[in-house]
Amino acid sequence: MIKRLGVITRDCAGVNAALRAVVRTAVSHGLEIYGIIRGYDGLIDGNLRHLDRRSVSGIINVGGTILKSARSERFLTEEGQLQALKTIEENKLDGLIVIGGNGSLSGAHLLASKYGIKVIGVPATIDNDVNMVEHCLGADTAVNVALDALDKIRDTATSLERIFVVEVMGRDYGYIAMKVALAGGCEDVILPEQDFDLNEICQEIQAGNAQGKVSWIVIVAEGKAKAQDVATAITLLTGLETRIVVLGHIQRGGRPTAFDRILGSKLGSAAVEALLSGETDKCVALKDEKIELIPLEIAIQPKKLIFEHEYRLLKLLS
Ligand code: F6P
Repeated sequence: MIKRLGVITRDCAGVNAALRAVVRTAVSHGLEIYGIIRGYDGLIDGNLRHLDRRSVSGIINVGGTILKSARSERFLTEEGQLQALKTIEENKLDGLIVIGGNGSLSGAHLLASKYGIKVIGVPATIDNDVNMVEHCLGADTAVNVALDALDKIRDTATSLERIFVVEVMGRDYGYIAMKVALAGGCEDVILPEQDFDLNEICQEIQAGNAQGKVSWIVIVAEGKAKAQDVATAITLLTGLETRIVVLGHIQRGGRPTAFDRILGSKLGSAAVEALLSGETDKCVALKDEKIELIPLEIAIQPKKLIFEHEYRLLKLLS
């Protein structure tokens, strides 16, 4: 029987909303709940904090995670894992909720499959790359944060008649890049999921330029190329002036959108309910407004994103 739960978080917008839902759902079921501070490192070090309804007040609108996070090298070792198990045993945790992306969910799968810990994951990553999950927490906010920056860049691109190359995050995936490029009315996007031809991009720029088109924004997904290299090549091939912007970590922070707050609330609550109904080694996801449970073994496999249709649309409309 589950009486005491632990919750581990990674940072991105919507995670605090999910944490609030986890804590309040757990408390309403009469469970005791502990926040693990600094992710898996906190589990290894026994860094736990008792949480109650009030300790998650006023956080639904706050980015990042109030529990702090870390990429834990130690948890990748057997010694670290055994130390984490000791913390779970000593604190009598009957189950864990892990809110995070691929790394966090891989750790959750390991705890469940190798050590028999009851674990449910909540997919949270701006890269939106958790397999079989349509919407990971944080991705919508990241797209909107990047879009807000892009709209500002366009003001300058248009006024000064310049070419901007804007690099966005997403690790090995082009989710943010594709969505931002489409929503921002950009002229082109370079994605990890498809080949690109710089000569072709430059020919289009030159052809447009000859017809009086003077400003361009090209989005580059960090997993495919560097904005600086693309900009240098464009200048070299077209003779036109370029500027680069690397948006970086601003995309992971910021106030969560309504979408991420609601998604976090639904997934966090569903994760606790799933554990209570005996589920383990799975993550929760929302599909057609219904909660689905996806085995972690499948969720951590590489996700195949296809952007052909959206890319064609972008080219048609740009
Ligand atoms: O996975 C989320 C992400 O923000 C990626 O988009 C990015 O490549 C990476 O994390 C950056 O990692 P760090 O914050 O450790 O530099």
